Amino acid sequence: MTKQRVLIPGGAGYIGSHIVLCVLLTRKYTVTVVDNFHNSFPESMTRVSQIARDELPADASQEDKDACTVDVVKGDMRDAKVLDGIFADYKQKGDAIWSVILVAALKAVGESGEIPIDYYEVNVSGLITLLRVMQTHEVTRLVYSSSATVYGIPKTIPIPESTPLAAESVYGRTKQMSELIIKDVCDAYPKTWRAIGLRYFNPAGAHPSGLIGEDPVGKPGNLLPLLAQMAVGKYRDPGLRVFGDDYPTPDGTCVRDYIHIMDLAGGHVNALEALDDDAKFKDTPTPGKYKAYNLGKGKGMSVLQMIDAMRKVSGYEYPYKVEGRRLGDVPDLTADPTLAEKELGFKAKYNLDDMASSLWNWQSKNPKGYTGQ
Ligand code: NAD
Ligand code: WQD
Repeated sequence: MTKQRVLIPGGAGYIGSHIVLCVLLTRKYTVTVVDNFHNSFPESMTRVSQIARDELPADASQEDKDACTVDVVKGDMRDAKVLDGIFADYKQKGDAIWSVILVAALKAVGESGEIPIDYYEVNVSGLITLLRVMQTHEVTRLVYSSSATVYGIPKTIPIPESTPLAAESVYGRTKQMSELIIKDVCDAYPKTWRAIGLRYFNPAGAHPSGLIGEDPVGKPGNLLPLLAQMAVGKYRDPGLRVFGDDYPTPDGTCVRDYIHIMDLAGGHVNALEALDDDAKFKDTPTPGKYKAYNLGKGKGMSVLQMIDAMRKVSGYEYPYKVEGRRLGDVPDLTADPTLAEKELGFKAKYNLDDMASSLWNWQSKNPKGYTGQ
C-alpha cells in the first residue's frame, strides 16, 4: 500500500513528537516535520524514529523501515517560502503531501498577555500563511491542535463541544480565532476542504520507553512538568505552591481532565482517517466540512490527586503551601469526550497511574531533558 505523506509543523515539541510517533506506527503514513525549534530539539525526532523502528515487527519490509525516518526541515511556519518549498519539493518527487497536522504554536497563557503580537503572529498569521500555501498546492486536509481553553469559563461540566467559545486569554483567543478561520475556509470550499479541530484537555505523561517527553525551557509553569522536575531535584526551593484550596470541588483544589499523551496523540490518527470519510461531516451546521472534537478522558482530577500520584511513583514528598488562587484559573475543566468516541472511534485508555509512571520514567531517565544541560 502506498503511504501518504503528512506534514506536521511543530512536530518536534512535546505533543508533536508523540503525534509523529503515533502516525508512523500506523505504517500508513510518512511524516515531514517543519519546526523552528523555538521550544524543542531535533533530538526528539531522532528518538521518535528509533522508537518507531524498534516497534516494527521482525519481518517488516524495507519500505516500512525507511518510513520510520522523519524528514525534518528547520524552518519557521510564518515563512511562506519555506512552506511553499516543502510542498513543491514533494510534489516534484511524486510524493505530494496528503494532509497537514498543525501543532506549531506559542502556548503559554501568561506570556501571551505580555507579548500578544508574537502570539497572534505565530498562532494566527502562521496559520493563514499555511492555509494559503496549502490552497496553492491543493492540499486541503487539515487537523488542527486546538485547546479546551477556547471554552473560557464553561457553564456546563462535563463540557460538550456545543459550549459557546469564550476564551479568556490572548493565547486562548488565538486558538478560538484559528478555529473560526479554518471553519470559514471549509465553508468557502465545501467540495475540497476537510478539517478537524482537536480541543486538547490537559496532556500528561510520556511514551512508555522514556525516550521522548516534555522538556520545557526554564521553570515550568504547568503543574505536571513542575512536579516531575521537582522530583529530580530542581525548583524545590521554596516548595510547591498550590494555587487555592477553596474552590467548589471535592478537595477544594482545581479539577482538570488529564489525558495520557499517547491517548491524545492517537486521537490524531483517528482524525486523519476521518478526513477521508465524507460521512463524518454530514451533520455540520454550515456547508463546510469542519468539525471540532474534545480530546479528554471525561474524568476530573484535582491538584492534590496529581501531587499524590507523582509522590507514589517518584518517592518525593512534595512539601507544599496553599497560596491564593492563580489569576485565570477555573474550578473545573472536564471534557465530555462522547462525540470523539462516537464519531472518531477515539477512546482514552490510560489511567492516572499510567500518566504519573510514564512521566516519572521520562524525567528520571532524562533529568536534564534532551540536551542534558
Ligand atoms: P511545544 O512548545 O512543545 O510544541 C510546539 C512546537 O512548535 C515546538 O516544537 C516549537 O519549536 C514549534 N514552533 C513554535 N513556533 C513555531 C514557528 N513559528 N514555526 C515552526 N515551529 C514553531 O508545545 P506542545 O505542548 O507540544 O503544544 C503543541 C500544540 O498543542 C500547540 O498548538 C498548543 O497550543 C496545543 N495545546 C497544548 C496544550 C498543552 O497543555 N501542552 C494543551 C492544549 C493545546
Ligand atoms: C493545573 C492546575 C493550577 C502549577 C494550561 C493552559 C491551558 C492548556 C493546558 C494549552 C491548576 C495548579 C499549577 C503550580 C498549582 N494549554 N497549579 N501549582 O492551567 O489547567 O492549563 O495548560 O492549551 O490552556 O491554561 O494547567 O498545569 O498550569 O495547572 O497549584 O505550581 O494546577 O492552579 O489548577 P491549566 P496547569
